[in-house]
Amino acid sequence: GLERTFSIIKPDATRRNITGKIISKLEEGGLRVVASKRIHMSQEQAEGFYAVHKERPFFGELVEFMMSGPVVVQVLEGENAVARNREIMGATNPADAAEGTIRAEFAESIGENSVHGSDGPDTAKDEIAFFFSDDEIVG
Ligand code: CMP
Repeated sequence: GLERTFSIIKPDATRRNITGKIISKLEEGGLRVVASKRIHMSQEQAEGFYAVHKERPFFGELVEFMMSGPVVVQVLEGENAVARNREIMGATNPADAAEGTIRAEFAESIGENSVHGSDGPDTAKDEIAFFFSDDEIVG
């Protein structure tokens, strides 16, 4: 059924001015942008958003990268939006990402991988609420 997921266009992509190319891939894949804002994440936001990864060896690097430039945070809506977005993004590591996916076409490395997408419906709810209030989402 109709579902929502959370997406981030990461600093490596805003730096290269390819946010439009990425949003086109999402739209062509059947997703609709129902909320969007360009922000520069604070350390508090980056650490809070990625808190689940705080014991990982790459946590510091991940937080630094996400604060290194503007990002575009979005809510995407569509049929099975969480899974659909993951298909459109491709694997986390661009070396493993299927042809035609965002990460295969645009990602620079496993860390600078152009996009984030929620990994499940429960995570999607939490991640949407982390950045958006209900009145900012217009379906
Ligand atoms: P994302 O979907 O944003 O969720 C966590 C992020 O951690 C992931 O995408 C990657 O960009 C990043 N990540 C995962 N593994 C590594 C790694 N080995 N080194 C650096 N960053 C990583």
